[in-house]
Amino acid sequence: MMRWLLSLAVCVAATHLCLAVDVPISGHWQGGFQGKACFDIKQEMQGWKVHLKFSQPINSLEVFVANVGQKLSGGKEFVVTNKDFNKNEHVGDQLCFEFIGHGNGDIHPTATATIEGTAPSTSGGGSGGSHGGTHAPVTHPLGPGPTIGPLPKPGNHLTSATMTLGYQNGNSFEGTFSFPIKEHTMGYLANFTFNEPLSKLEIYDAAVLTHLNGGRKWIIVNKGDRAGPTPGTTLALKFRAEIQGAPNKPTGHAVLQNLGIDPWSVQPAHDGDHSKYNYNDLLYKSILFYEAQRSGKLPNNNHIPWRGDSALGDKGAKGEDLTGGWYDAGDHVKFNFPMSYSTTILTWGYLLYPDAYRAAGQESKILDCVRWPLEYLLKCHTAPEELYVQVGNGGIDHGYWGSPEAMTMSRPSYKITASNPGSDVAMETAAAMAAGYLAFKNKDAHFASNLLSHAKQLWEFGNKYRGKYSNSVTAAAGFYTSNNYTDELAWGSLWLYQATNDHKYLAEAERQFDPEPAWGMSWDEKTIGNQLLLYKLTHKEKYKTAVIDTYKSWFPGGDITYTPKGLAFRLEWASLRYASNMAMAALIAADAGINPREYRHWAMCQIHYALGDSGRSFVVGFGHNPPKSPHHRGSSCPVLPARCGSFAMRAPGPNVHTLYGALVGGPGSSDDYKDERDNYQNNEVATDYNAGFTTAIAALKHLYIKKLHPEQTGSAHCPYSAGHAVVG
Ligand SMILES: *[C@@H]1O[C@H](CO)[C@@H](O)[C@H](O)[C@H]1NC(C)=O
Ligand SMILES: *[C@@H]1O[C@H](CO)[C@@H](O)[C@H](O)[C@H]1NC(C)=O
Repeated sequence: MMRWLLSLAVCVAATHLCLAVDVPISGHWQGGFQGKACFDIKQEMQGWKVHLKFSQPINSLEVFVANVGQKLSGGKEFVVTNKDFNKNEHVGDQLCFEFIGHGNGDIHPTATATIEGTAPSTSGGGSGGSHGGTHAPVTHPLGPGPTIGPLPKPGNHLTSATMTLGYQNGNSFEGTFSFPIKEHTMGYLANFTFNEPLSKLEIYDAAVLTHLNGGRKWIIVNKGDRAGPTPGTTLALKFRAEIQGAPNKPTGHAVLQNLGIDPWSVQPAHDGDHSKYNYNDLLYKSILFYEAQRSGKLPNNNHIPWRGDSALGDKGAKGEDLTGGWYDAGDHVKFNFPMSYSTTILTWGYLLYPDAYRAAGQESKILDCVRWPLEYLLKCHTAPEELYVQVGNGGIDHGYWGSPEAMTMSRPSYKITASNPGSDVAMETAAAMAAGYLAFKNKDAHFASNLLSHAKQLWEFGNKYRGKYSNSVTAAAGFYTSNNYTDELAWGSLWLYQATNDHKYLAEAERQFDPEPAWGMSWDEKTIGNQLLLYKLTHKEKYKTAVIDTYKSWFPGGDITYTPKGLAFRLEWASLRYASNMAMAALIAADAGINPREYRHWAMCQIHYALGDSGRSFVVGFGHNPPKSPHHRGSSCPVLPARCGSFAMRAPGPNVHTLYGALVGGPGSSDDYKDERDNYQNNEVATDYNAGFTTAIAALKHLYIKKLHPEQTGSAHCPYSAGHAVVG
């Protein structure tokens, strides 16, 4: 019988008081930390157990090459035991294991560890390969490996290595491939090829994806729990394996492919105008951004090579299919309130400026772009008085840093009903569908009429049961709390009125009219949109006055702070979103005849600030010095099938994939901005940030076509400073 001995390596012999080794903690972040415990083995062991102790309690521990057993002292101590493959440790070895601890807040404990080893049993034979050759050869044929998707093309970032044989004991052997690392390797794929077919291969510091050629070729990827090797180091991949047939001497070679680099890039779209910025390229790339946000089963014409199918299990309480739609931002929740708002605003842009999309060669693309969320929103409307409004839980989702394709966490869905109402989200969804009806009625009559009948039902539902959805769906509160639903009652009604010409909708919109200057425009506030649509649809002076009052408040000299370089700065959280949305509404107001020269000039300067006038671009993959490290999980992860993890969030380099067309949150009040991935206030991206921005670009492009662009009419100096003309 075996018994636990105190290891001489770290414990004072023959006492119960083990000396502890200090365990360095190499990183910590919100909710976790990582470290590595190492022991110099000074006594033969056939099995071992480590006590890891922390200076403060933690919730859970993950170790990838050992089993995590008991949690003691309320989480301040964990017992970790060997796996089968690393139970035998020999004198002179160094045993190391990395771990990740999870806890609350940004925890940074100190840690110590003690190891106890089991002495080798005396009855067993000797160790080493001395009698391996005396066994008759045994064959363990290997079935086919798991099927895997297509692998990335090998490209240029390859390193090769020949196997070093550690020991061989009959059919079993231990080998190592050592790859010299010359460039940052955030994730990798390695193909191991052997002279003999293997029946088994176990590797500790990487993961086996599959095997091919009867066990002669093994495809390995990095693990998601650790940062990849850095230049100047050696990546040593040590493994234990078994030969299928006679125990001949194994040889092997391997190729390592760096998957921390995605060579994919797109050419700028042809610039049809002579404007300062290439609006065609912006329309093209902004639509690419929405494509990168797609959830569900991707169509064959997917243009984003680094994206694949994801969240195919999204469903309602009765199993209703809720796949599709857009991931909201740098995360993977589907928040329908901002999603439907973005859909309405993008569709509005197409309805107003089809000439711009056509001239940019993007008409079919923008229609595909808005159709994607519209099809999802139709699925979410599961009964006349039942609408799913969110899939995925913000808390669970935000604890995961990885690609949507590799998600495994639970994705609960949330709905509004008669007893848990949400007039705001019901009306915004109705608005998106009514706008969709107008966009598709001459292109796909069946789809359009389906949109319209759902829009009408949703309007009845939202109007009859009034309430804020974020009171009904608490999972949305804290992320997208609705301030009020009265603006959406007007907004939804105005879109239904445009789709139907039924005056009951206009009457409701006029009842909900709010003459106060708009605070801003966003997923939550549609005040200026209502003022503008009411004026366009009725030509009543009071609505025009409301629009003018809103822009008096927004123009220089009004209520808004301006940055030194001229950005109308509403809020430190995504400042560019408010400026872009208000610029969009100003351009639409100008087209409706309200202060056209001043509004166009001001709006152009707001948009051009983000395109480069401030000295840099705030649009990923566009213009001079664009953001390279947006807070966006999927684009920061290595090329699939490499595994991702929080290391990708903390990685020093740019995001692996270029998230073309994404407008980042934007600068602080003094034009200050750092392109840092963990800065979700200034450097996140979102479907609603890009919505008004894209429509504003279409409006500017339209002006260029009509020869009414400020650059063509001689009023294009930025920053805009002629505010008195419209404010005074
Ligand atoms: C690894 O092997 C797979 C399967 O044969 C192949 O498709 C892939 O291109 C190889 N990759 C490298 C880097 O050799
Ligand atoms: C919602 O807005 C309306 C109109 O502006 C206002 O009368 C009402 O007090 C607001 N309700 C809340 C809860 O803010």
